Amino acid sequence: MVTATRSLGRTDLKITPIGLGCMQFAGAGLVARLFYPPLEQPAVTEIVDAALRAGTGWFDTAEMYGRGRSERALTTALRDLGVAPGQVPIATKWTPGLRTAGSIVRTIDDRLAALQGHPIALHQIHLPYGSFSSLTAQLTAMARLAHEHKITAIGVSNFSARQLELAHAVLARHDLVLASNQVQISLLHRDVERNGVLDLARRLGITLIAYSPLRSGLLTGRFHDQQARSGLLPFRRLAGGFDERTLRRTAPLIEELITIGRAHGASPSQVALAWLITFYGETVVAIPGASKPSQATQAAEAMSLDLSADELSRLDQLSRSAAA
Ligand SMILES: NC(=O)c1ccc[n+]([C@@H]2O[C@H](COP(=O)([O-])OP(=O)(O)OC[C@H]3O[C@@H](n4cnc5c(N)ncnc54)[C@H](OP(=O)(O)O)[C@@H]3O)[C@@H](O)[C@H]2O)c1
Repeated sequence: MVTATRSLGRTDLKITPIGLGCMQFAGAGLVARLFYPPLEQPAVTEIVDAALRAGTGWFDTAEMYGRGRSERALTTALRDLGVAPGQVPIATKWTPGLRTAGSIVRTIDDRLAALQGHPIALHQIHLPYGSFSSLTAQLTAMARLAHEHKITAIGVSNFSARQLELAHAVLARHDLVLASNQVQISLLHRDVERNGVLDLARRLGITLIAYSPLRSGLLTGRFHDQQARSGLLPFRRLAGGFDERTLRRTAPLIEELITIGRAHGASPSQVALAWLITFYGETVVAIPGASKPSQATQAAEAMSLDLSADELSRLDQLSRSAAA
């Protein structure tokens, strides 16, 4: 399948509109206790294989996902699948919590070791808070890594419009661009439209990488059934809004996702992803997570789903009342 690629911000990097989120590969740590149960390496390799076969062209991981376990599991899978370093872009993230900006430079070799020979296409500051150093100092450290060719592009995550503007300005002083801001966006989470982040990203040519694009699975429709919900880990249930009121409020949107999906021979989750990467134009790309190969296949295949203007607008309308 040939999928049109997009530029990552104003960099030369090309990415597919859908990448694979790799938090699900974090192993048996905090993520596993709060969000997703751990996956063994053969399962991870099958998911990565399915994603690649269906046209996913890049991967997003982080130091925070099991302190390097996700990075290692991803690159072990790529090695076992015969994907050479540099063949697919990998994005990772530095964890700011209780650290100074100096740790960005000090820990880069740990990140590269965890990625087992794969280069870092995009290095991101995971959160705008938690560090002992200023954002300016953190971005300056990132600039140093880019100038030393240890990373290709620089991104941030969970940054507000004001913080984005600062990041853009700091990097410009080093003749660098801010490639991306990774934030939560989905049919059930549209804060970027109100808090200035979308407008600013468009103006400055920054890609928004949408995390939790399926609202942790809620937009698949599968959790509107009580039994499927009962096994969810605590923080995921809380973050995804799996309570009865939210389920009732989102039911009309889910119905529409099912109806539109039926007309295209697609699943509700594919329609939700196709909406996300189409509605905002080139600015928004998505990184759905998968704990099964079939989920990774479905996510990638959403890139070839063509929604009509009428379908996009019906979902837009329903999503406004569902997200309220
Ligand atoms: N930068 C940040 O602060 C931040 C924060 C959160 C996440 N992220 C990134 O964003 C990625 C995705 O976010 P997310 O995992 O929170 O949420 P998500 O992508 O909205 O949801 C993923 C989950 O939805 C379910 N799912 C996916 N496809 C499905 C399908 N076709 N049918 C049925 N269920 C399906 C699976 O649940 P089951 O596993 O239960 O089957 C899967 O684990 C993460 O992997 C991570 O890389 C970044």
